[in-house]
Amino acid sequence: MNAQQTTIHKGLEGIIVDRTAIAKVEGAIGRLSYRGIDIKELTAAHSFVDCVWLVLFGSLPSTEQARALDDFLVRSMAPTDSEQRILAALPRSKHPMEILQGLTPLIDRRFADAPALPVESTELAEGLVIAARLAGILAAWQHLRHGESLPVPDRTLGFQANFLLLFSGRRPTVQALATLQVTQILQMEHGFNASTFAARVATSTLAPVQAVLSAAIGTLSGPLHGGADEAALQMALEIGAPANAADYVRQCLAQKRRIMGMGHREYKTVDPRARILKPMAERLCSGSTHETLFKTLVAVEEAVQQAMAQRGRKIHANVEFYKGAVMNALGIPSDFFTSMFAIGRVYGYLAHFLEQRADNRLIRPQAQYVGPDPASAAQPE
Ligand code: COA
Repeated sequence: MNAQQTTIHKGLEGIIVDRTAIAKVEGAIGRLSYRGIDIKELTAAHSFVDCVWLVLFGSLPSTEQARALDDFLVRSMAPTDSEQRILAALPRSKHPMEILQGLTPLIDRRFADAPALPVESTELAEGLVIAARLAGILAAWQHLRHGESLPVPDRTLGFQANFLLLFSGRRPTVQALATLQVTQILQMEHGFNASTFAARVATSTLAPVQAVLSAAIGTLSGPLHGGADEAALQMALEIGAPANAADYVRQCLAQKRRIMGMGHREYKTVDPRARILKPMAERLCSGSTHETLFKTLVAVEEAVQQAMAQRGRKIHANVEFYKGAVMNALGIPSDFFTSMFAIGRVYGYLAHFLEQRADNRLIRPQAQYVGPDPASAAQPE
């Protein structure tokens, strides 16, 4: 092929590499749905565990099915003794995303019988154990890095309430639990985003589920992807007050630096997840010590939009922009934000693992070679 005529699809923008029935991302109108149900409806009327079932199995669960899944996750979440020993041996400076990515393949994946779950594949059951355990490991890391002992799960509470119990050591308030559920539902699934695509590439090689999840979690950690949540909050704290926002944005754009939490490859209007998270952040922050933080974020969003409009461009807040303010109000430290994203998104990865496996072909694109040509072989005399 003539190199000059080759079209390079940098960043794979606009390239359709497969079909999916899991999430529909409608970038032009700012709508996101899982298995045909709008996230607005899911966050208003359904639990996190309902949505896990929906994303994995295609329809909402019965009360009995939701209870069975919740119970399975609660029974699977506490780190084993050997996992706790591994955690205790690690330097406390390790980022929670390194902990999740590194420990995923090492998790003890044995599972107790779960007859009410339609998990025909052992790997899915193992994947669900990993998903639940990652939440327990994250909570354990929060305690271990402060030299504290680990609380134990309370079998009378659901999975998400148990996560907050394990993380903070206290039974969560109704408001804290509702906030966590909404945030984690919003982060569960998003089509062929970078980390899910990494999961599908790994799945396509027939790598085992633990390798697939580890590859995806590592990909999520980058600041252009999941890592933007931590970066957006750090930025708002650095700016300090709404009055400083416009100057900060001007400097950033002049230096060609990105404003974290703004812009999206798919959404050409407001990210539908930000539409839900912004009023939630406002409610949680107003009248509290976090109010200035929220107002600073609003001022940054406005300043970016104005600056971009002057360049004839539109740019909107994405899911990461206000999520940090919500997490912060929940008492989650900022270096845990992306790992919170990971323990919500892991169910989306599992759904893609199943979908890819059901109709698999090795994912193997090409690159245009632009290096030096090989030295021509010596001609025989
Ligand atoms: N701050 C400043 N400029 C931005 C920007 C941001 N957050 N997002 C996009 N732009 C600008 C780019 O500088 C680029 O300008 P140029 O054409 O003059 O070089 C243009 O918009 C297109 O950017 P590009 O990176 O090609 O778009 P993309 O579709 O590949 O990028 C993101 C999407 C998400 C990577 C990008 O918007 C970004 O870096 N955002 C910040 C990180 C973030 O929030 N990530 C979480 C996503 S959910």
